[in-house]
Amino acid sequence: MSEERRVKHPSDSATEQVHIITQSDINGFDRLFGGALMSWIDILAAVVARRHSERNVTTVFVDTLEFRAPARVNDTVYMTGKMTYAGRTSMEVCVRTFVEELSGERKLINVAYLILVALDEKEEPTEVPGLIPVTEEELEEWNAGARRRALRNQRRSEKF
Ligand SMILES: CC(C)(COP(=O)(O)OP(=O)(O)OC[C@H]1O[C@@H](n2cnc3c(N)ncnc32)[C@H](O)[C@@H]1OP(=O)(O)O)[C@@H](O)C(=O)NCCC(=O)NCCS
Repeated sequence: MSEERRVKHPSDSATEQVHIITQSDINGFDRLFGGALMSWIDILAAVVARRHSERNVTTVFVDTLEFRAPARVNDTVYMTGKMTYAGRTSMEVCVRTFVEELSGERKLINVAYLILVALDEKEEPTEVPGLIPVTEEELEEWNAGARRRALRNQRRSEKF
């Protein structure tokens, strides 16, 4: 990477994904299997982080994974992934998952924040572009991301 660190905006890497829930995605209780959704979340976050860093990435931490409401077979699932904070080699990505009605109305069913690290050719952590928030919401997310990072670092220093 050059002396002057590159920067990108959250919109440069924002990514969307859609699914229709099939029988193979549901659990014995007729709801979307949480593990299936977690896999979709992880993949979407990885694509966002790849687009931001232009590197291969690996997930190192799931900061939040909140299931707010169920989804059921034949539901349309709409997901958004967006960068919220960039460290030196790590990136925080927020993934929001919605059930989309046939009318187009969306209900939020899951919110997750994941930390991914960019890897170089030797699979060592490598510097990523900085993140410049543009909108008020992106600035709030960036500030919250900085607070979550400080908490994570504190927890890591106290760790088992
Ligand atoms: C990700 C990994 C390469 C980081 O290696 P490391 O030796 O901890 O590297 P560093 O200490 O230089 O940390 C690199 C970055 O990751 C962050 N990080 C490392 N461990 C972390 C943790 N537990 N939680 C949050 N962030 C973490 C560091 O803060 C640092 O971020 P920064 O550069 O923005 O400050 C290594 O932990 C790894 O390979 N983990 C397994 C990942 C994996 O296999 N995921 C898929 C699971 S199936």
